Amino acid sequence: MDVQHILVTGGAGFIGANFVRHVLGQTDMLVTVLDKLTYAANPASLTGLPSGRMRLIVGDICDEVLVNELVAEVDAVVHCAAESHNDNSLDNPYDFVRTNVVGTFTLLEAVRRHDRRFHHVSTDEVYGDLALDDPIKFTEYTAYCPSSPYSASKAGSDHLVRAWVRSFGVRATVSNCSNNYGAYQHVEKFIPRQITNLIDGVPPKLYGEGLNVRDWIHAEDHAAAMLRILRNGKIGRTYLIGADGERSNREIIEMILLAFGRDPQNFELVTDRPGHDLRYAVDATPLRQELGWTPQYGDFSEGLAKTVRWYQENEEWWRPVKHATEERYTRQGR
Ligand code: NAD
Ligand code: DAU
Repeated sequence: MDVQHILVTGGAGFIGANFVRHVLGQTDMLVTVLDKLTYAANPASLTGLPSGRMRLIVGDICDEVLVNELVAEVDAVVHCAAESHNDNSLDNPYDFVRTNVVGTFTLLEAVRRHDRRFHHVSTDEVYGDLALDDPIKFTEYTAYCPSSPYSASKAGSDHLVRAWVRSFGVRATVSNCSNNYGAYQHVEKFIPRQITNLIDGVPPKLYGEGLNVRDWIHAEDHAAAMLRILRNGKIGRTYLIGADGERSNREIIEMILLAFGRDPQNFELVTDRPGHDLRYAVDATPLRQELGWTPQYGDFSEGLAKTVRWYQENEEWWRPVKHATEERYTRQGR
């Protein structure tokens, strides 16, 4: 479909910023970012981009009047805005229900009113978790079984999107992606937290025994998949996005320690996350076969090394929020 101007919600966050950068680099589209600039945002993630093709509107996706006005101006909406961190959802679930459920509802009503294309960015966590020794992966047919307030709120938003497609004919697609890594990720998240701890001479922190498995994909590969779905995805379809990157948390920590030339066993075991999902794994075959998407970061260790370098070279990007993030973890006992 011909898209000239898109509204990217949450464009000052991790996935949103990587997506905006990808779109501006690969297409001629105009981009309007709508972002509330919560603690998780960093407008510096959008610096250096062509100002004539990108503008940032600071506002809330729950603001019906603003959302209505902005949706009317664009051809399509790519919805990345969310409260995204599981640990925080255990302390303050309200913000997650408000932004992830009510915010998605507000956007859906606006795209319904103006008949705009909508792509909803979601997570593999809506499917719950898998056993460590199970060869099975999530597919688009896996039953929803979310574990945390975060994943339950994302599951709720996915259901709203499907209902708006079926009941009102909204032209929407959904993608459920596995764990992302790369540049511009907040230091509260696993990989950047450990890299920046090591820069500060603090041992990495591993929840529980570190046996939990995540399926890692580079954020630039996620962004490319999102754009492909926006352009060529089938209305009403759900696409799973993943790059066959299963690794235990312990393996990742060992790789990061080695990248810093440290003893790979020099980490600290901390209190586990309540309800901690054991394993995620995504089968992205339909995305690869039907839409011809392939990840560019085939080698996880190369992508990780590049990410380590990015945090080493961009301290001014993350330093202002590091102390407050670690204080929050100290209060949570992690
Ligand atoms: P993030 O926390 O880095 O960024 C979220 C952005 O949304 C921030 O810029 C924040 O200011 C903005 N925001 C929050 N509430 C808002 C509101 N009410 N109105 C407007 N803006 C608001 O999150 P992320 O990692 O970039 O995740 C983005 C989306 O991608 C989420 O929907 C998440 O479920 C999904 N996702 C993330 C990953 C991952 O590994 N990070 C994987 C799969 C799916
Ligand atoms: O699967 C997709 C999801 O991935 C996204 O929907 C979420 O928005 C995103 O935050 C991420 O969720 P996780 O909970 O898997 O990510 P997080 O970075 O918080 O943790 C990754 C794993 O590392 C998890 O098993 C918990 C563990 N962990 C995390 C931190 C912060 C540690 O062992 N130590 C830590 O210090």
